[in-house]
Amino acid sequence: MLPNIIFIGFMGSGKSSVGRHVAGMTGHRFLDTDDLVSQKAKQDIPSIFAAHGEEYFRDLETGCLKDLVGICGVVLATGGGLILREENRALLKKIGVTVWLDAEPDVIFERVSRNSRRPLLATENPRETFDRLRQARLPTYEAASDFRVDSTGLTHAQAAKCAIEGIRRTLNSRPRG
Ligand code: S3P
Repeated sequence: MLPNIIFIGFMGSGKSSVGRHVAGMTGHRFLDTDDLVSQKAKQDIPSIFAAHGEEYFRDLETGCLKDLVGICGVVLATGGGLILREENRALLKKIGVTVWLDAEPDVIFERVSRNSRRPLLATENPRETFDRLRQARLPTYEAASDFRVDSTGLTHAQAAKCAIEGIRRTLNSRPRG
């Protein structure tokens, strides 16, 4: 049985869509930290940010991850900023193998521009905010992941296949014990 598979990456990188495909291909159950946080708070993400601010949202994310330690057979899509806390990165290591899903910035920005669900991009110049946040987070995605999948030009199904191949490679390269 494959381990838990975690997707990290910037907003709009396709973590939920590709994650659902991977769940379908592996028989794992699909979970999404944004959904878990919303269920915990009984509010959608923009309302949590508006009513309580980002730190409160981040605390809820950490709480959800703590609840997941020990779980088996899941694909977990994570909110784009979840990896910012060192505590969360340590929790991810306990939970499963981590895939950084990435794509060219223009492709990702086009996707996130299609809706207004992302409070962090509700600024005067969303593209400038997007570029600044993405640039600042790149090293953390790299450090927090076991490997990267570039989904530029790939369908969700193709990206899912690349992710599963990467998981198998990662497991084969790990010392057994
Ligand atoms: C965030 C990404 C969002 C959501 C929240 C904050 C971020 O999730 O968790 O709006 O800090 O990048 P997606 O990556 O699923 O859009």
